[in-house]
Amino acid sequence: MSLLDVRNLTVTYPGGAAAVRGVDLRLDAGRKLGLAGESGCGKSTLALALLRLLPSGTRVTGEVLLDGEDVLTMKWGRVRAVRWAGASVVFQGAMHSLNAVHRIGDQIAEPILLHRKATPAGAKKKTGELLEQVGLPAARADAYPHELSGGQRQRVMIAMALACDPRLIIADEPTTALDVMIQAQILRLIEQLVADQDLGLIMISHDLAVLADTCDRLAVMYAGRVVEEGPARQVYEDARHPYARALSAAFPRIGDPASRFAPQGLAGDPPDPAALPSGCTFHPRCPVALETCPEEDPALRAAGPERRAACVLVGPRPDEGPSAETPAAQGDRPAEDPEALEEARPSTP
Ligand SMILES: Nc1ncnc2c1ncn2[C@@H]1O[C@H](COP(=O)(O)OP(=O)(O)OP(=O)(O)O)[C@@H](O)[C@H]1O
Ligand SMILES: [Mg+2]
Repeated sequence: MSLLDVRNLTVTYPGGAAAVRGVDLRLDAGRKLGLAGESGCGKSTLALALLRLLPSGTRVTGEVLLDGEDVLTMKWGRVRAVRWAGASVVFQGAMHSLNAVHRIGDQIAEPILLHRKATPAGAKKKTGELLEQVGLPAARADAYPHELSGGQRQRVMIAMALACDPRLIIADEPTTALDVMIQAQILRLIEQLVADQDLGLIMISHDLAVLADTCDRLAVMYAGRVVEEGPARQVYEDARHPYARALSAAFPRIGDPASRFAPQGLAGDPPDPAALPSGCTFHPRCPVALETCPEEDPALRAAGPERRAACVLVGPRPDEGPSAETPAAQGDRPAEDPEALEEARPSTP
């Protein structure tokens, strides 16, 4: 059984914005899944939906199986327990949400006292251990947030997320707003923690390069849907879906000087989730759209071993042999002529 198995997850905000549409994801313990896509494509909404943190009135359907238990149908008492001990989130911009008037040690200890029913002495000891785990001296427990740098505060947020020994960490843009050196340190720290504790990790970013470097698998979202999913390096270096290709081409490659001079911008804006285009929602911006694309919204289908993409032009390449079909891909139409996409692929990079 997977640590996390998300099935057909759909989220519609009260105003009618379909922010997440029929997403399937799976994650095993010790594995790292990256979630990428332009601003507004639904990454944070998806993360919040996993732990039922969305505003009331939001319609959420599908299944979120955490160790086989559906978070979406749990009683609230159970959801609260799961939020700390099952899966915890390091939120986007979280380092600004520490309470300015409390010592950081007390803020880390709070969930340990509450959810672990620890004694004050036990919680203090655990807090010191957590701080050391994230590379801060235990004595920093006495500091107030303003006495720490941005990077140190983000370490505190990670310590807080680890407080009740979760099985899954969801990190939503954990390094945005940090400088490149600190960003690298925090990413290495997260990787180390995941490896040492056999956690599952979902890392959200619009930066494909960071995700390709950190994660095992990568899912690219567009307008609330996963449009491509597969081994992280392969998706980054050789994306199949035209949107994922455009996104990855927007990042210069280390060791490939040509890519620095050929940033592939994508014309147009992402669609309004309350008024999505018909058919494939990417068709108005797609450089290789066919006449039929405004009518047909393709499901994710096999695009090579362990790879899936949602584009009518995508199928396994002739040299890749039989594809490892995933359950979500089963039942899809057989892949269409792979040569068609080869011809239609943009020439760079
Ligand atoms: N509370 C809300 N009510 C209505 N619509 C919302 C709400 N929160 C987000 N949305 C809309 O849902 C869509 C997805 O937003 P979301 O924050 O999940 O995107 P994101 O991929 O995390 O973007 P970013 O990279 O900027 O963080 C956007 O169009 C956004 O405007
Ligand atoms: Mg977000």
